[in-house]
Amino acid sequence: MGKEQPAVTAQALALRQREISVSEFFTKNRHLLGFDNPGRALLATVKEAVDNSLDACQEAHILPDVFVEVRQIEESRFRVIVQDNGPGIVRQQIPKIFGKLLYGSKFHTLKQSRGQQGIGISAAGMYGQLTTGKPVSITSCSRPGRPAHYYEIQLDTERNQPIVLKEAEVEWKGEGCGTRVEIELEGRYQKGRHSVDAYLQQTALANPHVDIHYLPPKGDPMRLPRVVDALPPDPREIKPHPYGVELGLLQGMLKAAKGQRLSGFLCGSFSRVSRATAFEISSRAGLKPEAKAHLVLGEEVERLFRAIGQTKLMAPPTNCLSPIGEEIILQSLRQQIQADFFTARTRPPVVYRGNPFLVEVGLAYGGSLPADEPIALHRFANRVPLLFQQAACAITDAVLRIDWKAYGLSQSRGALPGGPAVLLVHVASVWVPFTSESKEAIADYEEIVREIRLALQDCGRQMGRFVQRRKREVDAERKRSYIEKYIPYIGEALQEILDLRADRRSLLEENLKNMLERSRS
Ligand SMILES: Nc1ncnc2c1ncn2[C@@H]1O[C@H](COP(=O)(O)OP(=O)(O)OP(=O)(O)O)[C@@H](O)[C@H]1O
Ligand SMILES: [Mg+2]
Repeated sequence: MGKEQPAVTAQALALRQREISVSEFFTKNRHLLGFDNPGRALLATVKEAVDNSLDACQEAHILPDVFVEVRQIEESRFRVIVQDNGPGIVRQQIPKIFGKLLYGSKFHTLKQSRGQQGIGISAAGMYGQLTTGKPVSITSCSRPGRPAHYYEIQLDTERNQPIVLKEAEVEWKGEGCGTRVEIELEGRYQKGRHSVDAYLQQTALANPHVDIHYLPPKGDPMRLPRVVDALPPDPREIKPHPYGVELGLLQGMLKAAKGQRLSGFLCGSFSRVSRATAFEISSRAGLKPEAKAHLVLGEEVERLFRAIGQTKLMAPPTNCLSPIGEEIILQSLRQQIQADFFTARTRPPVVYRGNPFLVEVGLAYGGSLPADEPIALHRFANRVPLLFQQAACAITDAVLRIDWKAYGLSQSRGALPGGPAVLLVHVASVWVPFTSESKEAIADYEEIVREIRLALQDCGRQMGRFVQRRKREVDAERKRSYIEKYIPYIGEALQEILDLRADRRSLLEENLKNMLERSRS
């Protein structure tokens, strides 16, 4: 045994204790962001850039044209290029957006969007820089007809700050405005369920208003044309609902509300709090509505928090959501999937922890879909496909808990149902409770699972009816063709028994055939 190390003193520890920058943290924990192996990293990079393009176009009310290229540079090195026709990015903002983690426009906003954390694209750039040493290149034009700004940016991980390596004015090669992002990274290009191709196809499924051009590293270019010309409903920003606010957060909000009265603070900071309700909450908490908000402290905050819980409030407004809609889900499924039967359901919005959300389900059955495999389950959160962590997701959980046998599919315990079907499940919310920062699975909130179940059951019942009807038709057809085969023998037997002439016999057979034919329609 070696000599024991001397014990460390608090003073010695103090010398080692220091701040950890968020970028250092995520460099070490890149799996949390979905960059844990080269295959996933390539997909995550495309995904972060495309999700941002679609968000930006939606906010700017532009029908998105997205160009994606994955160019192979070496065996395991790729250059991902994503260009959109969105509003572009103001020059001064470019360095921070691409060279600083936790910088974005969506984190503090309560409305449905694909991004929410302000990590996505800078994390992709950071991974590229880590594995290839190359900076991120950005070209963005934010005023039509004017030159675009070109930047090459690196991220100083120790300080979580951008370093601008190059800056220039260039011509914008595209109509209107837009942004082009290029990231070089160590990656692996793969096919199948977790591929860039699958991600883009599923993106098109939940966003049929998007036109996607894709140039893969090998093979033919892929085009996913726009299916509907209408923009999705424009989600409105809402204030937090009082029921969704936790005690610590309320404390922080009060502290920051310098110069405001308690009643004004309550009305102004939350949705569904009128002056009358603010007075009701204050008096229930034993506080004066005209008290200074930032001086409501300690035990008073707890009373206020409890009073909020005891006051009846209207549910939050739901125009903060942008559902795909039943009609459009059907159109989109029909465009991509060859099937005999389609159905869709958009549930009315409901609330979890004060956050409005809604669930949509689309289902395709039969046709050329494989009958003896598990169904294909496509999960979406705010119109973004979730390709990983299927087993850990509330959507899968809800699917597994349905009795699919009742609707005509096969099922064994703990497995996805089997049969010729594709299932699309979309959860849309102002704040999707993901199980991790890589946004791959939705946490098991009881309210969310319940809504998914209801939508699945609705679609399941429709499919069940179709399967039954088709089964009856197939049975009847089998009987008919059986009888049809025997008509000549029946004719012959009757001719003999009744001593018929040949023309009477053919007339009889003809009549029988006609009767069978009539039963078909
Ligand atoms: N193509 C683009 N066009 C216009 N603005 C963009 C584009 N890409 C990014 N942005 C802006 O940069 C911000 C940061 O993007 P980033 O992907 O890092 O975070 P996010 O999308 O807000 O959240 P998340 O981490 O969940 O993706 C966005 O909030 C948006 O304001
Ligand atoms: Mg993003």
